[in-house]
Amino acid sequence: MGPPAPTSRCILLVGPAEAAPRLDTILSADSWRCTCSETPSGVLRRLRFEQGIDLVVLTPDGSFDSYTELCREIKFDARTAFVSVIFVLPSDNAQRRAEVYGAGADDCIQLPASPEEILLRLSNALRAKRATDSLEDSTAVITSLATAIEGRDAYTHGHVERVSMYSVEIGKHIGVDNAGLAALKIGGIVHDIGKVSVPDSILNKPGKLSEVEMELVKRHPIIGYHILQPLRAFRDALSIVRWHHERPNGKGYPDGLEGDRLPLLPRIVAVADCLDALSTPRPYRPAVSPSECGEILSAAADKEDLDPSLVAALFDVLGKRAPTLVGMSTECTVDRWNDQGSSD
Ligand SMILES: [Fe+2]
Ligand SMILES: [Fe+2]
Repeated sequence: MGPPAPTSRCILLVGPAEAAPRLDTILSADSWRCTCSETPSGVLRRLRFEQGIDLVVLTPDGSFDSYTELCREIKFDARTAFVSVIFVLPSDNAQRRAEVYGAGADDCIQLPASPEEILLRLSNALRAKRATDSLEDSTAVITSLATAIEGRDAYTHGHVERVSMYSVEIGKHIGVDNAGLAALKIGGIVHDIGKVSVPDSILNKPGKLSEVEMELVKRHPIIGYHILQPLRAFRDALSIVRWHHERPNGKGYPDGLEGDRLPLLPRIVAVADCLDALSTPRPYRPAVSPSECGEILSAAADKEDLDPSLVAALFDVLGKRAPTLVGMSTECTVDRWNDQGSSD
């Protein structure tokens, strides 16, 4: 069999083998191309690397929670958020239905359902998917651009992914809703996209930046904001891009927002950004040790340079997951960081 035509409808069935055959038969008869995975593990990776999967149909077995978690991960990841996710549940269960929609699913089919109804609902989901494909394209271009910009700076490799991950972990810990978590995830990735305007010679300068150079760097939140403002897919991340260098005490930039005028999401990303700036080496200093990193973040919270409640939330998260979240160096020289401030 040759490669599928570009217009073919490709569906990934995820669930135990005994659930798949009936759906497989119904869909194949209507010329859908089906591919299967018996468990949720590895599905996210397949979606990222296999082109052309339009819909994911989840038929959970006993481990229902792992399926809702997979759905959340698909919907929170900018690279897969536009894939339609449909649950097929074996019986009417209002509680399960609510959990499925709470996880961000696009539809929930409860059996028994006729083949005609199943095909119609999958076709509707596919139509919605096609309508958002252009949004998906723009999101992929922008996230690739954000990663490429970061790649210019030899010292910040992986910075945006880590900021995204730390932000989501803090957000989960304090109960941010699903839409907010999705904004933190994509906002973390694109928060420094405005650095496209900063020359390499400044990004990689080993010494202290001059005042003029620092002013150039400090323009990146506004420039990032103007790059993303026309794109609807980034609407929820705009506050993060523009205000991740604002400070609750009003001493940040570019707008000098103070107190309650500074929204929650950029406050969270500011904490994550500072953690990553400290815990990784810079051209002008090695990475700061975990204990000193904690002291610096606490001091910043005391001065309301960072939101104290969010620094406390970060410490809670690190306490639980330190080995997987932060691989900090034990070397410690903070003077240069204190001189220069966090310019990330
Ligand atoms: Fe930044
Ligand atoms: Fe940053």
